[in-house]
Amino acid sequence: MGERGVDQPVVVLGVCGGIAAYKAVEVLRLLTEAGCAVSPILTEAATEFIGPLTFSALAAEPAEVSLYGGAHPSPHTRLGQKADLVVVAPATADLLSRLVAGRSDDLLTATLSATTAPIVVAPAMHTEMWEQASVQANVATLRGRGVVVVDPASGRLAGGDVGTGRLAEPAVIAATALEVLGGIGHDRDLEGCHVLITAGGTREAIDPVRYVSNRSSGKQGYALVEAAVARGARVTLVTAARRALTPLAAEVTTVVEVDSADEMDRAVASVSSAADVVIMAAAVADYRPVASASRKLTKDLGIPTIELEQTADILAGLVSRRRHGQVIVGFAAETHDVLERATAKLARKGCDLLVVNDVAADAVGFDHETNAVVILGADGSATDVPLAAKRIVAHAVLDRVARLRTTTPIERTPS
Ligand code: CTP
Repeated sequence: MGERGVDQPVVVLGVCGGIAAYKAVEVLRLLTEAGCAVSPILTEAATEFIGPLTFSALAAEPAEVSLYGGAHPSPHTRLGQKADLVVVAPATADLLSRLVAGRSDDLLTATLSATTAPIVVAPAMHTEMWEQASVQANVATLRGRGVVVVDPASGRLAGGDVGTGRLAEPAVIAATALEVLGGIGHDRDLEGCHVLITAGGTREAIDPVRYVSNRSSGKQGYALVEAAVARGARVTLVTAARRALTPLAAEVTTVVEVDSADEMDRAVASVSSAADVVIMAAAVADYRPVASASRKLTKDLGIPTIELEQTADILAGLVSRRRHGQVIVGFAAETHDVLERATAKLARKGCDLLVVNDVAADAVGFDHETNAVVILGADGSATDVPLAAKRIVAHAVLDRVARLRTTTPIERTPS
């Protein structure tokens, strides 16, 4: 069982009785890794499929099953009131029906009745049940009340049947939960704002099967997209990473997929004049092969010598074309003399903010779920963001962006 941190969002994770109950453990793990304090509630039926101890071992506090007999006299109000979010995964047809009716005859439904927190449900059941008019009507009612429903996927179901009703992937459920959480506590302070974000490491072709690239996963860039969407922005994502956005972000984000630095440069150039904010989170390759072979370089040709040339500096181009009031943010991944190099880079690049991470440190940067950064401002400011989930780091960057948008360009010119 983990310790609860002071600023951790609290997620109550409800688990119903169904074969997919074991997948809720993965939802719990992903939410915990993303920095949430998770309090599990299992229905009596869920305990037929999986034991509370499995959840207790990974959660912020022991899993609860019953309204009665526990340490707290009123467990449903304790859990309902402290929750920032309630997620039910898997949600059975019976749970959906009881939630619609406002029943409170077990700990999970009583907690759902006792909370004002947003609710995410991920139904899982056999196809015939999912397609029942009553179930569909309940889902529509819940959606109408603002409950976020993560639709079941199609695939193999219990007993070997194949069809719709399978619990959505734990990663999709966790990402949706985080997205809902990300929108809590933040004003929609980027409403009406067009934000262009780049993400991922570009790939520079050597031949049709090989490329030069870097270790960027794109996770921080995608977290920025999801956070910007939660704050009301209209987002264009130019990405060299092949990742999926959360369903809510995907609905409202224009995605342009690119491979090379040159493609990214052209995609950025075609959108940037319409953007109010540009965030260059991508790890753009600094060098590319001078020539890319049209056919695979086979061994019989001998060991190739690959001559490299410099790519265009996209960020420098953005700064040179910057329109009045546009906020431009760069990133810097450094391994040594971090702040010294970053301060010089900020001055050299001429952007408004430079988000700096020390990628040599533990759990920071490439492919980690967490990051720790310093946000340097052209006004000489430095904001320390200690190790946190990339979503939290994204909001810290957007806090600075939102503040810059309310100051005039003249005020933010360095002295
Ligand atoms: N960047 C860019 N175009 C490039 C290289 C980098 O737009 N060809 C952007 C990155 O997206 C990032 C910022 O510039 O926002 C800093 O990238 P970095 O590689 O740290 O900077 P460099 O100028 O390449 O400096 P270094 O000598 O440290 O590699």
